[in-house]
Amino acid sequence: MKFKIQKPRGTKDILPEEQKFWQYIFDKIEKYAKSYNFNRLETPIIEFKDLFTHSIGEGTDIVEKEMYEVSRFNKTLIEEDDKDQMVLRPEYTAGIIRAYIENGMQSLPQPVKLFSCGPVFRYDRPQKGRYRQFWQFNLEIISDASPLTDTLLILLIWQIFQDLGLKEDIVIDINSIGCKACKPKIKKKITEYYKKYLDIVCDSCKKRFVTNPLRLFDCKEEKCQKIIAGAPQIIDNLCSDCKKHFTQVLEYLDELNIPYDLNLKLVRGLDYYTRTTFEFRDLKDSGRQSSLGGGGRYDNLIESYGGRSTPAIGFAGGIERIVEKIKEKNLKISDQKGPDVYIIQIGEKAKRKALILLKSMGEKGITATCSFGKESLKAQLKEANKLKSRISLIIGQREALDNSVIIKDMEDATQETIDIKDLENILLKKLRNE
Ligand code: HAM
Repeated sequence: MKFKIQKPRGTKDILPEEQKFWQYIFDKIEKYAKSYNFNRLETPIIEFKDLFTHSIGEGTDIVEKEMYEVSRFNKTLIEEDDKDQMVLRPEYTAGIIRAYIENGMQSLPQPVKLFSCGPVFRYDRPQKGRYRQFWQFNLEIISDASPLTDTLLILLIWQIFQDLGLKEDIVIDINSIGCKACKPKIKKKITEYYKKYLDIVCDSCKKRFVTNPLRLFDCKEEKCQKIIAGAPQIIDNLCSDCKKHFTQVLEYLDELNIPYDLNLKLVRGLDYYTRTTFEFRDLKDSGRQSSLGGGGRYDNLIESYGGRSTPAIGFAGGIERIVEKIKEKNLKISDQKGPDVYIIQIGEKAKRKALILLKSMGEKGITATCSFGKESLKAQLKEANKLKSRISLIIGQREALDNSVIIKDMEDATQETIDIKDLENILLKKLRNE
């Protein structure tokens, strides 16, 4: 049988040479998440489908067409889990909230601040910046209703982007979409307005009119854009509490000198949001892939799952998009270091000595490698050069017999033969440039 050597559409191999970009981003996320006292939580990649249909909402793209259902290959045994459909998580938030409730995190000191980082899955049409498996870094602050918390979260994300070197490249879009009390009234106002345009709008908008009227504002079709322009503004129809909350968020952002754009049509593609919604958008890109991250409040979600009424706010950034942005900007990210030591061995006895040296170097925290499959000195030296090792150790047949080793500095090409018992000292001195 001929094997198909091909990754699934919309997925990526994150190759060793790309890892420096990923590590650069992970390091910044971790640094800020920790400094704001977020704790890491990782949830399963598979969850029950209902968790997402309930929270993200029927009629959203994710629930209607983008979830990957998981099935077991050979269902001869009926397990507990088989009764309910499982899916690959299309986002983090719902799983995080499930874990918060299920693990009794309500009894921890509140607010609970959680961060996560890993792959999520959406069946979408793949193109640049849009994948079927992609990584999100996710931040949630649970059990805090204050507008200061909205600002704090935006500040933290802003600092991450600033530290990544992308401050000049992003804009923060911000809006408020109301609460349990005013959101239904806003939806009603919008549908009333749209009624007279139903013959004109695109087919997707006809559907949105019924399932998800706020998302009518998301349509990119030219004919619908004109209708959107004349639609009632969400902000004019917020209740007084929501207006006050939003005004305060903006005032605090002003105080911190964090620039933002009021985007009064920003509704986001998930149903659980209430009040503040925001996106970190690529300034140069106006397409669907321009969002480097997005989030908002979801004050009713925990209660709707049967938990105690608990306000919350969160955000997720798309790592692939951020990597692409960093590459596009040609930001200098230092190359991953080669190993400290490459051990060249010639002959069976030398191989055994190399194995023992690898063990002891691992214990000392010295990064070391060797190619047991290669025999010639030339081939192994070539490999050491390619790997950019700092030092090569050469154990030939003679060295293996008289317990010596040649230590070669790969930077200045000097070398000397030393007794193997002095190796550790000499090596450490060299690595410390003493
Ligand atoms: P989201 O806007 O659906 O929000 O996704 C967050 C980010 O994931 C997007 O801004 C984008 O950078 C990235 N992203 C989305 N789809 C793709 C794709 N197909 N390929 C590559 N990157 C993509 C959420 O997921 C919410 N759970 C955020 C949140 C957390 N809200 C509250 N807490």
